[in-house]
Amino acid sequence: MFEERFSSTLPFPSKPSGLYEPCRYFLTIGGKRVRPVICLMANELFGEITEDAWYAATGIELFHNFTLIHDDIMDKAPLRRGKQTVHERNGLTAGILCGDVMSIYAYDQLANIQKNLAQVLHLFNKTSIEVCEGQQLDMDFESRGDVTIEEYIHMITLKTSVLLACSLKMGALLGGATEGNAEKLYEFGKNLGIAFQLQDDYLDAFGTTQKVGKQNGGDILSNKKTYLLLKGLELANDEQRVVLDEWLQKDGDDKVAAVLKLYKETGADVACREAVERYSQAAFDCLEQVAVLSKRKDELRVLAEYLLQRDS
Ligand code: IPE
Ligand code: IPE
Ligand code: MG
Ligand code: MG
Ligand code: MG
Repeated sequence: MFEERFSSTLPFPSKPSGLYEPCRYFLTIGGKRVRPVICLMANELFGEITEDAWYAATGIELFHNFTLIHDDIMDKAPLRRGKQTVHERNGLTAGILCGDVMSIYAYDQLANIQKNLAQVLHLFNKTSIEVCEGQQLDMDFESRGDVTIEEYIHMITLKTSVLLACSLKMGALLGGATEGNAEKLYEFGKNLGIAFQLQDDYLDAFGTTQKVGKQNGGDILSNKKTYLLLKGLELANDEQRVVLDEWLQKDGDDKVAAVLKLYKETGADVACREAVERYSQAAFDCLEQVAVLSKRKDELRVLAEYLLQRDS
């Protein structure tokens, strides 16, 4: 239901087409629309979906897509949603500027909100700043060899999970939730977001391009400090650690296959799945504490379960 309204009311004019055509392209090649949907679901926990929640959901999805366009430049990613990334298709300038303008259109949506505008805008701004901070840490970690699991969790909390948490909290606040319930939903989103990014890392390694729509092994090629890599290094015996360290120093056609093999041999793949499970459980515990009738939370439960078991 979000998708229909979203794609039929994209806010971009037609000219200059060099700017807006790639924006439309990127927004029509797919995307799970997870953040706007959970925003609307959180809103619906407290009554009928409000017009304010639609503006919030639309703004959040535009903002998310802006972060993806720039993320693909930073990660040198050729593919997303099974299609060419914007910078690959239209050039670097288009990638930068489309991302910029999309983020401004996101804010323009939020400007339509009537209720609690100052409060939700502060929350959104805080979240946007945190996403930038997380993205910077993600890049910094590429060239560091001493990243800890704790630092990794902090980084993915910033780059990924706070936006899911913010989506839920905004939806809740715009639906008239109490501060306590809004905060519990935020915590639900934070744990869900961590599990979601762990799963994203897992799929980057073990998924297929055909299903995931991204270049397989992209994280391995850019030495991203993912949970898989950090756990692989931790669980490796001396011999395996030497090999893994060697691969971190070099590139080669067989890098992805070799590192994947080590992830399996060390049990890093299983450890990653277990971590997804732990954070999902923590997320569901938070959701239980939201004080609305349990049945009303079913939609969020089902969506969260789908997200954490997805293979695409
Ligand atoms: C991708 O997010 C970026 C991450 C935070 C892992 P999604 O997996 O939600 O991307 P789309 O919007 O569905 O393509
Ligand atoms: C991206 O993390 C998070 C943000 C866009 C803020 P990734 O770099 O892992 O996301 P994908 O795998 O490219 O979607
Ligand atoms: Mg990326
Ligand atoms: Mg990235
Ligand atoms: Mg990824």
